[in-house]
Amino acid sequence: MPHTLATAPVLILNGPNLNLLGRRQPEIYGTDTLADVEAMCAKAAAAHGGTVDLRQSNHEGELVDWIHEAREHHAGIVINPAAYSHTSVAILDALNTCDGMPVVEVHISNIHQRESFRHHSYVSQRADGVIAGCGVQGYVFGVERVAALLGRG
Ligand code: DQA
Repeated sequence: MPHTLATAPVLILNGPNLNLLGRRQPEIYGTDTLADVEAMCAKAAAAHGGTVDLRQSNHEGELVDWIHEAREHHAGIVINPAAYSHTSVAILDALNTCDGMPVVEVHISNIHQRESFRHHSYVSQRADGVIAGCGVQGYVFGVERVAALLGRG
């Protein structure tokens, strides 16, 4: 049985360097921290009767392992793969094992206004939606979208 927001949390996955959010290039990524993102996302999920499980790793394989875990234990995934967006076939392949699970890709910055190597994301091929350039509010939009996709049954 696929999960709903009532039966499992939304996994909010963050890739490399996002542990420094709030201190890392604040002119690009802003001053909110991942703890602030977690609080915003928890509030958004609670409005739909759900919870979130926010994680961050600087290691590709750990992100892959967590995506595998999500197959059984999470209702949907909001993912900011950070630099791995542009390089990781492994993360794309892992997401492709999550049949029927809502996946929303988030980028805090507008990757299309930046260097050309940021314009392509492997993850976008699997993502049900992509949000870029909305700052950390993009994560909230991601949770809202996962809730909407689950609600469609
Ligand atoms: C990012 C954009 C990526 O290009 C970059 O490598 C990041 C963060 C964003 O949230 O805007 O680390 O995913």
